[in-house]
Amino acid sequence: MRLDKYLADMQIGTRSQVKKLIQKGFVQVNDEIIKKIDFKVNEDDIVVVDGMRVDYVSYEYYLLNKPAGFICATQDNRYPSVLELIPYVRKDIAIVGRLDVDTQGALLITNDGQLNHKLLSLKHHVDKKYYVEVDSVLPENAKEIFSQPMEFSDFTSQPALYEDIDDTSCFITIQEGKYHQVKRMFEQIGCTVTFLNRVQFGNLTIDGLEVGEYRELTEEEIQQLYEY
Ligand code: URA
Repeated sequence: MRLDKYLADMQIGTRSQVKKLIQKGFVQVNDEIIKKIDFKVNEDDIVVVDGMRVDYVSYEYYLLNKPAGFICATQDNRYPSVLELIPYVRKDIAIVGRLDVDTQGALLITNDGQLNHKLLSLKHHVDKKYYVEVDSVLPENAKEIFSQPMEFSDFTSQPALYEDIDDTSCFITIQEGKYHQVKRMFEQIGCTVTFLNRVQFGNLTIDGLEVGEYRELTEEEIQQLYEY
């Protein structure tokens, strides 16, 4: 890849800032000062900027505890993007799946396109657990209803795991991630969702993360996601 891209991907600066660093002779590749911005480097080359080695990290993985009011899109006219919550995020990063703007909770963000595709593909359903609050008393047979597939105009949901909390709140674990799926499932049993929090996405939980906080995934967590 080009030297300026390598450095920009590694957050050394914007593309124009790193170009200047290169042209001014601050950058060495394998012990040689390189002033050509499109000089080709690979991940094994030793790149040093102003005396500091800069290794190339191909993939980045973040778990964000998304707050309500942020949108799962890179840009929007009305709401700030969830990506604004992760400083210096690189350009090739993508949001895995979507949460509604008023939903909070676990959101995976990565530039690993292969994993992103795998997790969203129908063959590799990942359990998604939500804490749900509704506006009216949940039916006593909610667990039974949700344990059966539900018919919607555009799809049939897989059986879901319902866990009781009290009259108006519960946990539900679903596998697919259709548009407004949880809200639509509760509408079918006569309840409107008033608060939705994804507490778990596959093996990843929001435990220890304040709303709006993020952390990098561990190697083990990344491995487990691949094994799903
Ligand atoms: N289901 C919904 O209805 N909304 C979400 O944000 C996620 C799942």
